Amino acid sequence: MKITILYFSQSGNTERAAEMIKEGAESAGDVEVRLMNLAAGDGAVDGDFLSESAAVIVGTPTYMANMAWQLKKWLDTDKTRLAGKLGAAFATANFAHGGPDIAVLGILQHLLVKGMLIYSSGTGCGKPIIHLGPVAIAGELDKSRDLFVLFGKRIAEKALELFG
Ligand SMILES: Cc1cc2nc3c(=O)[nH]c(=O)nc-3n(C[C@H](O)[C@H](O)[C@H](O)COP(=O)(O)O)c2cc1C
Repeated sequence: MKITILYFSQSGNTERAAEMIKEGAESAGDVEVRLMNLAAGDGAVDGDFLSESAAVIVGTPTYMANMAWQLKKWLDTDKTRLAGKLGAAFATANFAHGGPDIAVLGILQHLLVKGMLIYSSGTGCGKPIIHLGPVAIAGELDKSRDLFVLFGKRIAEKALELFG
């Protein structure tokens, strides 16, 4: 089963979070995970792999208490059919009060409108509870490592349960 982790990361924090999620997802079993950083420009997105993915996990840095405009632009304009796929979101920020949850919610809103089945694991998997999606603070990414790895594992397990 294929899983895409798609994000925008200019200075590497969101990319590091994506790598932790990838590690967790790969621990769930027979999954192939690919990272796609929109900051890489043309060719960043492998359209075939994305289309074939059962789950798409979307991440962003927090810009002005919202998702980065570069990700918003991709979500608004990309024509890949994501309906029916499992969707989840994560974010990084400089401050806990800087709006990363709002950025995550904004992504989830987009994924819902695209017809995705959105999931965070919530309270359903017990503690630690992942609320809307994991967020990490720049400079303290390693403090959130376990949560990001666990998130990746839970999303992959749900994708395997639904589509495996
Ligand atoms: C234009 C811009 C706006 C930002 N706005 C916020 C913000 O509103 N709240 C916050 O906590 N951090 C804000 N940040 C900090 C980034 O969210 C944070 O450094 C993030 O981890 C960067 O991700 P990256 O390294 O993947 O590019 C902003 C950064 C930039 C460049």
